[in-house]
Amino acid sequence: MNIPLIRPYLPEGTVEGVTEVLQSGFLVEGPKTAELEAGAARFLRVAYCVAVDSCTTGLEMALRCLEIGPGDEVIIPDYTFPATGLAVLAVGATPVIVDVTPKSMNIDMAAIGAAITPATKAVMPVSTFGNPLDHDAFAALKKEHGLLVIEDAACAFGAEFNGERIGSQADITVFSLHPRKFLTAARGGLITTQNDVWAQWLRSYKCFGKGSQATRADTLFDQMGANAMLPDVLSVIALSQLQVADEMLARRIELARRYEALLADVPGVEFPDVVSGGVHSRQSFCIFIDNRDRVMESMRGAGVEVQIGTYALHLHSIFSNNGSVRIEGSMIGSRWAFDHCLTLPLYHEMTGSEQDIVVGMLKSCLKGGRPE
Ligand SMILES: Cc1ncc(COP(=O)(O)O)c(C=O)c1O
Repeated sequence: MNIPLIRPYLPEGTVEGVTEVLQSGFLVEGPKTAELEAGAARFLRVAYCVAVDSCTTGLEMALRCLEIGPGDEVIIPDYTFPATGLAVLAVGATPVIVDVTPKSMNIDMAAIGAAITPATKAVMPVSTFGNPLDHDAFAALKKEHGLLVIEDAACAFGAEFNGERIGSQADITVFSLHPRKFLTAARGGLITTQNDVWAQWLRSYKCFGKGSQATRADTLFDQMGANAMLPDVLSVIALSQLQVADEMLARRIELARRYEALLADVPGVEFPDVVSGGVHSRQSFCIFIDNRDRVMESMRGAGVEVQIGTYALHLHSIFSNNGSVRIEGSMIGSRWAFDHCLTLPLYHEMTGSEQDIVVGMLKSCLKGGRPE
């Protein structure tokens, strides 16, 4: 038996779409990427969407776009994928790492408040695994302290807060198209914003700093830039999923609810908290248990691919042993999430009987026995 953690969903027509792009001879960024950008903006109900070659690149671009650099501090959560902190380091700013609330795994608003200094320019919270942030709290924070908000929504495509899809609330939001994410293009990222000047800057930056208005070859490049474009051959993969994104989201949410129902009475299993008014997009289905590592090893040994949640940055030397990083306060919440979170298999085409096998195996591993 082998139940994978994820299996990217490739709706009918995906392979034909890729073949068409390959046969067109036009493999660089072009009409398919433009279609993906327009379609994602429509789906997320946000003014602008700029596709790039990864979420990590997109986070770095967002910081550069908002002119964040040396001397500036950016507050980030401890419990996240390293890319969140690496992007801040890449632009020469100081990541200020603070704790999360353990049961939501999202950044602790009180910890942000305690870490603000005159050098704080932005906060870069993460909507962890698709669990939406409390954007009312961020709006209040912006108002009180004048901070910029860049949301690392790598995992949160389709999540909602108060009826609005994630992507329109922060100054700039960045999603990932990595294969573990809801929308997948093998690799890639989507940056969204409501600000036309920033959107234009981001569009130019990803294409070597090419000016949008320029028509003459002798005056084409007018700002700093990089090669961060998303090729059409990748965009067309995400595009085919985007066309059925509502159905994909509904299926994920249905599978997550079924897991919750099956595990509701199992002693020692806890579920993450979701903010009131939030819709979790269930990029990952996480539970909290004791003896997580033992259970994880047993389940893997029996052919069910389970995984930890994510990382606690303060444990890694690139952050803990770095004069350019500030670790602020205790990381009790992050450490707890790091030790207790277990991610169970979840994918669009998962069947009820596969879910039953996962749950049965989890129950026997929790009791300390070997899975049948
Ligand atoms: C929170 C978070 N930020 C950033 C990234 C990086 O995304 P990408 O692989 O698209 O660069 C990830 C990837 O897993 C992530 O989970």
